[in-house]
Amino acid sequence: MAIPALNHFLDLADLSNAQFWGLLHLAKRLKDERAERGANHPILAGKSLALLFQKPSLRTRVSFEMGMQHLGGYAFYLSPAEVGLGTRESAADVARVLSGYVDGIMARVFGHQDVVDLAQWGSVPVINGLSDFSHPCQALTDIFTAWEVLGDLEERTIAYVGDGANNVATSLMMAAGKVGMNVCIVSPLGYMPDPAVVESSGAEVSVTDDLDGVQGADLLYTDVWTSMGQEAEREERLAVFPPYQINEALVKRTGNAQALVMHCLPAHRGEEITDAVADGPASLLFPQAHNRLHAQKAILAHLLGGVPLE
Ligand code: CP
Ligand code: NVA
Repeated sequence: MAIPALNHFLDLADLSNAQFWGLLHLAKRLKDERAERGANHPILAGKSLALLFQKPSLRTRVSFEMGMQHLGGYAFYLSPAEVGLGTRESAADVARVLSGYVDGIMARVFGHQDVVDLAQWGSVPVINGLSDFSHPCQALTDIFTAWEVLGDLEERTIAYVGDGANNVATSLMMAAGKVGMNVCIVSPLGYMPDPAVVESSGAEVSVTDDLDGVQGADLLYTDVWTSMGQEAEREERLAVFPPYQINEALVKRTGNAQALVMHCLPAHRGEEITDAVADGPASLLFPQAHNRLHAQKAILAHLLGGVPLE
């Protein structure tokens, strides 16, 4: 049976397991095609993508821009200052204006409602490039990377160590649920995930403040302790999070000599992860960052190019 097409890519909760797997397979096809032929087919020739940012970025901005170029399309960056989403102009008006110029909008926002409003009011596909609530492009990439290195994902375990309530943890749980992976969230009290998010993820999730939660993990994952927009809480967070650092001792504590380490980047080295781990043999940090390109090309090929999910 054909997999239904997506209209937007706002949140992984909107995707079925089959749609999620369809994007993973498409990402692999596009990555292999570029490796084998040196280029992709220009399936997005004549198509354009607006990259609308309310927050800084390296990976998201560059991988979307290059992804569009690889597929024969065009992308351009709109800075927070020039658009003033929600201050100079409402998301609803921005969406209706941009829909007359471009074939898709990728937006990085503070309030998640802004990407929902862009999708509701615009008439082109909208991609969530990170909101305060979720980071679905990152989680699609993370599972793609895990699939490449581990093969079968069923019943594999990711231990996420750090701020279990942030956007990256939220999307990681949802993504794990799509592919049958188990998740252990290891977070200090006060920074554990919302039980409603855990419940809706569909994943087998355990939540603990005990670092022994990493035992048996195939993958260890961390992210910054203070996300963009939370800068005023930095000192308060720095007082709580240091025991939750991924260092060599914590990697050993998995009891799995093959355990690998992931981080969405940017990293605050010396805080949530040590240099020895980030640059060591267990690190997947840079393959993971590079895979943003391939995972997002799948989203673009499907949403803007009509390539079906299989
Ligand atoms: N991981 C990630 O989204 O990186 P950027 O903030 O640099 O885009
Ligand atoms: N949780 C981080 C992820 C950055 C890619 C943040 O929102 O700042």
